Amino acid sequence: MSEFVPGSAPASALSGSMRDFRVPKGTDLLARVGEFFDWQNGRRRNGLWPFSRATVTGPKSTVMAQDDSGRAMTGINFASQDYLSLSNHPDIRATALETVEKYGVHSAGSAALVGNSSLTLALERKIADFVDMEHVTLYPTGWAAGYGVIRGLVRSADHIVMDALAHTCLQEGANAATRNIYMHRHLDVEHCRHWLRAIRAKDTENGIMIVTEGLFSMDSDTPDLAALQAAAHEFNATLMVDVAHDLGALGPGGRGHIATAGMLGKVDLVMGSFSKTFASNGGFVASRSRAVKEYLKFYSPTTTFSNALSQVQAAVIHKAFEIVDSAEGETLRGELMANILDLRTKLAAEKLDYYGDPSAIVAVKMGSESLARLVSRNLHDAGLLANLVEYPAVGKGAARFRMQVMAKHTSENVSHAVEIMSRCRNEAMRELEAMQRPRLQEVA
Ligand SMILES: Cc1ncc(COP(=O)(O)O)c(C=O)c1O
Repeated sequence: MSEFVPGSAPASALSGSMRDFRVPKGTDLLARVGEFFDWQNGRRRNGLWPFSRATVTGPKSTVMAQDDSGRAMTGINFASQDYLSLSNHPDIRATALETVEKYGVHSAGSAALVGNSSLTLALERKIADFVDMEHVTLYPTGWAAGYGVIRGLVRSADHIVMDALAHTCLQEGANAATRNIYMHRHLDVEHCRHWLRAIRAKDTENGIMIVTEGLFSMDSDTPDLAALQAAAHEFNATLMVDVAHDLGALGPGGRGHIATAGMLGKVDLVMGSFSKTFASNGGFVASRSRAVKEYLKFYSPTTTFSNALSQVQAAVIHKAFEIVDSAEGETLRGELMANILDLRTKLAAEKLDYYGDPSAIVAVKMGSESLARLVSRNLHDAGLLANLVEYPAVGKGAARFRMQVMAKHTSENVSHAVEIMSRCRNEAMRELEAMQRPRLQEVA
């Protein structure tokens, strides 16, 4: 039973967005953030703030969790990023324990100084071989890798041509590197080429980085990577592809969409994260030259001036790559894809629409933020964890629930999750209609 009375949510908790508080006004830097907190509390008090939740049992298919008011729930977990379910794999756990016994828990320095270990060096080699590139630079997180590769290589006179939906780490890195940023329409290679042409018509002296993703994490779609690399060659630019969501989980041998496009080893720069499939924090940049690796190590601030991955992280990620690259990895990818297709089929049967192509990200369309927030409240009570994504992370009126599939979800988990999603959406639609009815009458 919900503790919230249907129809009781105030309009202020169903409207507004985090964008409203991005530029707070006033001289007191600390006091002026209070407005955001008041708005957030309005949502929190009404069970409409489904962010900052915590799992109690770890990110398994079924979990105990709590929201940030401490309200507990037990249910099915489609909100964790652990696509091949490796975070609880027995070999990964054993590797972590053995490594802690042997090396302790801390790298105790930056890779530019003495933070590397024999394990991080072995990991660099492993990843380079896996993605068919020569060299790899490791970062403490995927975010740091995305930000750092751009900030490390692009200077203020250079240019960046970037997909409009590129991840925040890429956008922040671009903003920190140069003011010459050109956004091209999502996946639109012709628009990208338009900017490249315009830049090269005026500037033949400076660099251009084209920035895109192997699999976009809100829309689950993929650009034409071969066409982008060809454009990079044609206009003397450098292509950088973020493979955070597809590497390991999709494509031939788990090599992601770069391999599906026949571009393995042929993209200028590949950047990835370990946090979706490889059971750990951390990220990497793969390049074809030692000079790029060395330059990033000393000029990419998020690795140069940050502590290196610990031995236990390096060993866990190494083991995850071994599993991903094995027959078992192939089986896990098969199980993951079967779950993805099962989920998409069952959602469609309930007339729940979703974005994009089959991947571990199944983003279920909701539309209005008010409806999505009411659904999120119902999901908590009904026992389904799925991540609400709303403006400004996605467009206004394009709110969605990002369901993230794992290899070890069962068919029952999928059926139950779809049944809950459908029921909660129907209840929320009825509630919203009832809330809007008197207002419509007033207008009449
Ligand atoms: C496309 C993309 N790049 C980079 C990152 C950052 O990765 P990490 O979680 O390892 O910092 C994410 C994670 O949200 C992502 O979705």
